[in-house]
Amino acid sequence: MFNIVVKKYGNPDNLIYEESESLVLDKNSVRIKVESAGVNFADLLIIKGRYQERPRPPFSPGLEISGVILEIGSNVSNLKVGDRVISIMKYGGYRTEVVVPKENTYLKPSKMDTLEAGGFPVIYGTAFSAIVTKAKLKKNEICVILGATGGVGMAAIEIAKAYGALVVACGGNDKKLNICVEKGADYTINYNDKIIRKELKSFGINAVDVVIDMVGGQANLDLVKSLKWNGRIIIVGFTSGTIPEIPVNRLLLKNARAEGLYWGELAYREPEEIGNDLSVLEQLYNNKKLNPSVNRVFELKDANKALNLLADRKNIGKIVLKC
Ligand SMILES: NC(=O)c1ccc[n+]([C@@H]2O[C@H](COP(=O)([O-])OP(=O)(O)OC[C@H]3O[C@@H](n4cnc5c(N)ncnc54)[C@H](OP(=O)(O)O)[C@@H]3O)[C@@H](O)[C@H]2O)c1
Repeated sequence: MFNIVVKKYGNPDNLIYEESESLVLDKNSVRIKVESAGVNFADLLIIKGRYQERPRPPFSPGLEISGVILEIGSNVSNLKVGDRVISIMKYGGYRTEVVVPKENTYLKPSKMDTLEAGGFPVIYGTAFSAIVTKAKLKKNEICVILGATGGVGMAAIEIAKAYGALVVACGGNDKKLNICVEKGADYTINYNDKIIRKELKSFGINAVDVVIDMVGGQANLDLVKSLKWNGRIIIVGFTSGTIPEIPVNRLLLKNARAEGLYWGELAYREPEEIGNDLSVLEQLYNNKKLNPSVNRVFELKDANKALNLLADRKNIGKIVLKC
């Protein structure tokens, strides 16, 4: 079995590709031959030791995979050898073979190819939990997505449109914002050279129902001021590097709420709910409401190049590793 290993916290160039012993299979887990592994922003943080989850080196990064079951534990009855599956994990996906608890392994959406499937659960699962479970987005509501130009953001655009919202996509790169329009965004705002509230007004939008925030910082604070009565802001990430301190009086005045989402942990605590979400997402995919196209594919041994591309913000959409 080959894997990418973090031996010391640091940058992608510190990652080591090497052969290791196969992992031991316990009675509640399945052994999977990995075909593709999704590359996520969180992988960049975890290899630096700067993520909520802080495994002690040596470890392999990687939150999601798609592949084929090679072996099942004696307590596993819902899955069988040969099933094509997707799995979610806290880390450890950058391998040619993984061992994952049965609860965190789901049948692969049957019409999705294996490369797409390896990059599907985290960004679509997160966007779904934020928009549907947490924000309870309703038809014709106005939904602003901060960080719409990233993986979670683009998935969020497609899901919000599928639920009938008017979508404003905010990002820092015009080329990526054009892709957001292709994904269905009604309006776009480049927050690097425009003031979000002023731009919203120029679209005739004085207040918004829902904000899905992957960026944090000043943009978050500006949008808290733009929430409507009963507005919702869902906190997903802080790619700007600044954790905003939301003035709670703003929430009180609008009868609004700010809510956090930690999807990776949720996937472990509530795997059945996540399975139900994935089934809804599969239906949306089959109805052509979602297009989880992969933008770049790298060989597993080149995981450092994939992560450097992500760190340099040169990716548009999803990157996966072929394992
Ligand atoms: N809470 C959870 O459960 C959960 C689950 C999944 C992801 N996340 C978090 O959500 C965030 C987005 O994840 P992702 O996979 O969508 O990442 P991604 O594909 O790398 O996208 C990053 C997004 O953040 C924007 N951004 C703004 N300032 C940035 C900066 N200084 N550095 C990098 N990007 C910056 C980028 O916009 P431009 O490039 O257009 O400026 C882009 O829209 C991350 O913080 C991730 O950890 C959280």
